[in-house]
Amino acid sequence: MFLMWRITYFRAALQQAPWRVAVRGLVSWIVRVGAPAVVVGLAFTVGTVVSDSAAKGLVIGFWVVLAVAVVLVAGGLWAWRVSGLVDKEIRARYGVLREVESARLLVRPPVPQDAVALAATIDAEMLAGNGWTERNARVMVKAVGAGHPTPGLLVFEARSDGALVGGASVQPSDSDESSRTLGWWIGPQHRRAGYASEVVAALVEAIHDAGFPTVEIGTTESNLAVQRICDRIGATERDRRAQPLPNGSVVPGIWYEHRQVTADKP
Ligand SMILES: CC(C)(COP(=O)(O)OP(=O)(O)OC[C@H]1O[C@@H](n2cnc3c(N)ncnc32)[C@H](O)[C@@H]1OP(=O)(O)O)[C@@H](O)C(=O)NCCC(=O)NCCS
Repeated sequence: MFLMWRITYFRAALQQAPWRVAVRGLVSWIVRVGAPAVVVGLAFTVGTVVSDSAAKGLVIGFWVVLAVAVVLVAGGLWAWRVSGLVDKEIRARYGVLREVESARLLVRPPVPQDAVALAATIDAEMLAGNGWTERNARVMVKAVGAGHPTPGLLVFEARSDGALVGGASVQPSDSDESSRTLGWWIGPQHRRAGYASEVVAALVEAIHDAGFPTVEIGTTESNLAVQRICDRIGATERDRRAQPLPNGSVVPGIWYEHRQVTADKP
């Protein structure tokens, strides 16, 4: 499983890299792995030919095996290094928050043990509110259960009894590197208890503290709860536009932004 997402990262990196850069990367690893292999090959050749001059076939076979092994090991190490760099970059871009506390909730990255409870927070209203398909939700829960990276995903845990109350996603903004986009949901058993108001206020604050002066929140014109929450935390409406959603629909959307309040210098 661990290997699977490293392969996915490697393939994504290859798709984006110009082929010259990719070839240069592979060749540099072949040189690194190949140099000691050549020494081993020469030592084998000298030792074998000196002791048995008829062993030419054996020497050729050894060099062929050595060459194939060098390409395989170098290719593997190169892929591992590239996927590791991609992983590091994604963590830096998406791992803006580690833990955030509000009065009743602890916000933290998910762990595999959360998968079942996380699935229970997903219902039709959650899917509709975030414009997700059931498949989007299944993929997320599966990734959490398998311990795969889930960039930007956070879960809300009740501090009183450890119940999983909902989740959020903090993503880089499409248009502005100094901004992060926040989305969230509360599980059906925990709605209308003020959790979203509480946790969104804490998250927005924490994102600002992490160095992002603007937080963007997108919702639909029909989602009165999110509009109410945005009003309460002091987010202002930035624009209204048709919003394409992951489930393929296009809805009338509203984009809010919350700007960090900076104290006036005396
Ligand atoms: C939207 C949602 C997050 C609200 O969570 P919640 O914890 O129930 O919200 P709160 O209890 O903090 O209520 C916030 C405000 O919205 C109002 N509200 C809550 N649910 C509402 C609803 N279904 N319709 C209208 N208003 C609603 C509350 O009355 C409250 O208003 P108030 O401040 O005037 O008292 C939750 O219903 C949910 O997860 N929905 C599905 C996913 C979704 O829409 N996510 C948002 C995408 S950004």
